[in-house]
Amino acid sequence: MNIESQMILIFGATGDLTRRKLIPALYHLLLKKRLTSCTPIICIGRRRMEKEAFLELLAPERFVGNVDKTILEELATRIEYFQFDPARHKPADFVEGMQRIQQRYGCTSNLLIYLALPTTAFLQTVQLIGALSFDEGWRRVVFEKPFGEDLASAVQLNRDIHSVLAEEEIYRVDHYLGKQLVQNILTLRFANEIFSGAWRRQAIDHVQITVAETLGVETRAGYYDRTGAVRDMLQNHLLQLLSFVAMEPPAEADGDGVRNEAVKVLEHLRPLTSSDIVAGQYGTGFINGEEVRAYRQEEGVENDSTTETYVAIRAHVDSDRWQGVPFYLRTGKRLQHRSAEIRIVFKHTTPKRVGRGGKPNVIIIRIQPDEGLALAFNVQTPTEHDEAESVLMDFCHHCHFGPNTPEAYESILYNVMEGDHSLFPRRDWIEASWEYIDRLRDLVKPPVVYDSGSMGPAEADRMLEADRRRWHNDVAGVKRSVYITSNLTDVSGKIQAGNFTARRDPEPQS
Ligand code: BG6
Repeated sequence: MNIESQMILIFGATGDLTRRKLIPALYHLLLKKRLTSCTPIICIGRRRMEKEAFLELLAPERFVGNVDKTILEELATRIEYFQFDPARHKPADFVEGMQRIQQRYGCTSNLLIYLALPTTAFLQTVQLIGALSFDEGWRRVVFEKPFGEDLASAVQLNRDIHSVLAEEEIYRVDHYLGKQLVQNILTLRFANEIFSGAWRRQAIDHVQITVAETLGVETRAGYYDRTGAVRDMLQNHLLQLLSFVAMEPPAEADGDGVRNEAVKVLEHLRPLTSSDIVAGQYGTGFINGEEVRAYRQEEGVENDSTTETYVAIRAHVDSDRWQGVPFYLRTGKRLQHRSAEIRIVFKHTTPKRVGRGGKPNVIIIRIQPDEGLALAFNVQTPTEHDEAESVLMDFCHHCHFGPNTPEAYESILYNVMEGDHSLFPRRDWIEASWEYIDRLRDLVKPPVVYDSGSMGPAEADRMLEADRRRWHNDVAGVKRSVYITSNLTDVSGKIQAGNFTARRDPEPQS
């Protein structure tokens, strides 16, 4: 698709998100020649600041990896800083300022507006945007998460922004949908007969979705302690992953095709009972050999806080495709390793005289780190004819496509520039997810403490044991990445195109 010229307006320009994610993403888009020569970047902040001081604050060279100085200089020429403080300035000041800038460039009337702001500032900013209109051109407005804190607030927020913007002008960000391997779920499923044919309850035993972090609450206690893992991660990122794994093939090729199917998954979710949920809170422990504090000892957290930093659920999608297949979802902070992955665990039967000792097939979608896809399958061992061993066929994303894979925010911005909505949750998905989460939150018991550096509370293990299953905790991929890159590098040092290889399974699957 062709990218049109557009003025990019970033609200919240002096914040962390702009500095760490948005400006580096724009740098990479510029580097890849994905911005037209008419794409000014207007950064809007409350503080009074000269452009030079603002550029110093941004310090893009710190966040972009290998710096190309020419690109950095070009980026600087495109950036403008505009002061607007709603407490001191009038909406007319903003409108006049933007019109002046637009006339100065004189090359586009299209507006991409990014609200890197807290939810509380959305309404006021949207009203400001409502006062700004150029004669021609489109307007696309991007909202950062969190989008509401329960169903009632999400409905209100949607209503508020809809008083100014049409749904097709709205892009609600879930940065997980910008991740390469999340986008690849649909390609894996719908562009590969071998997988689409097997993606059904008759073949699949269960699905596991894990987003594990080693980090604790860091400096965000103010936000996190009133939010918790259920609302911070489960409502958005994990339910999106579930929607992508479980959706039916989209009937329409446009963004709404995917969004129509994503929302149907949520509509088919069976209400949970209290035995389907485990909440935890991290205690003391060790992360990478270093002793870390308990959640309640973190700065800004009350010492009797009951906020959950871990949640695991057993969900069911009651559709024809998934009837009877449990989806186990879990996420937590201060866990043993950082990894986000999906495992599709197949049913397993061993025919007589063949494959003794074999294990279930598993498709592993490694979202991060070490992005890739793997398939565990059984082969005959060289020593015993009737004995099988599980091996991994493994695809390493960066080995094949190189290290320049777009970061989540690069994909997000690019998709907005293209006007592609498929990676952005629609109003109905947001509201359906909150409805599910509100009901779930009524059932959550006070969190049990788990050791930092573990994989979460024992209660979550017991939830699966009750179903005669277990969490897959091995980090498939860590050993592999060393193995596969050496296997793929040819004598001249180039990485070869074919990048599937087999290795021994690191841990028994069950
Ligand atoms: C954010 C959450 O949405 O996602 C954070 O608010 C969490 O608490 C982060 O740490 C995880 O994102 P990633 O991309 O680092 O896995």
